[in-house]
Amino acid sequence: MEKIELNNKKQTKEDVLKQSLLKERGQIPKHVAIIMDGNGRWAKNKGKVRIQGHKAGVDSVRDTIESCAQLGVEYLTLYAFSTENWKRPKAEISALMKLLIQSLRKETKKLNDNDIRLNAIGQIDRLPSVCYKELIEAMDLTAYNERMVVNLALSYSGRWDLTRAMKKISDKIKSGDIIPEEVNEELITSYLSTSEMPDPDLLIRTGGEYRISNFLLWQSAYTEMFICSKYWPEFRRNDLYTAIEAYQTRERRYGMISEQIYKEAKEKAEITV
Ligand code: FPP
Repeated sequence: MEKIELNNKKQTKEDVLKQSLLKERGQIPKHVAIIMDGNGRWAKNKGKVRIQGHKAGVDSVRDTIESCAQLGVEYLTLYAFSTENWKRPKAEISALMKLLIQSLRKETKKLNDNDIRLNAIGQIDRLPSVCYKELIEAMDLTAYNERMVVNLALSYSGRWDLTRAMKKISDKIKSGDIIPEEVNEELITSYLSTSEMPDPDLLIRTGGEYRISNFLLWQSAYTEMFICSKYWPEFRRNDLYTAIEAYQTRERRYGMISEQIYKEAKEKAEITV
């Protein structure tokens, strides 16, 4: 696998070792989703203004993208701005949008050089026009990259995603393209903004709170959750490794019982051998 460098720093030998141990120990989640919470509280604790928390959070984003790509994570979905975040004070919203524009301008080339694709889910046409334009350009430039997809959830909420899917399906029923009997889980999944990616295997939430906050509601039906007490600006690759280690110890039963999961895994291993 090609080297990846977003931090402009050489990967340490210790980190290479940690990553190879993690890969040997068990499965690396294909799709990691993160609720990046706690920027405001981090700033407040340090006597800074909230936006400084968001700014510091960009370093965590960069380190997380780089380490996920090195580990072989295929999709990384970051909850960067929720539908409900539009209710925040105007000054905070515009500072966040500026930060997003700056980050896109600064980081897109590096993402592209490292074969990383940038994608966005959410009502992105609600974003200020400059921000929307930068985002579309970054998505176009990186559209054919294959190493990993960084999926930014912007002006996103799970209920918005489901409502939009329901509306599209209703229109298709009205026009006769779909008959009601054809509506099933697979069809609904195919109308969601995440239709081209697998459901998240691991959902990390920083900031210590235990809620889903209208994130990937349908998609996280069987996602393993990991709550990290650190605020997002403090989150670094070692915290990601802790979350993945915890994920590797979980038994994902999808409603079945342990013995069935064991039998399935054994049969799969016999076929592969
Ligand atoms: C939640 O913390 C965080 C956000 C609403 C914004 C996340 C944005 C970034 C990490 C920076 C830019 C991102 C990219 C992808 C370039 P909060 O403000 O709700 O914190 P609090 O719960 O402590 O108030």
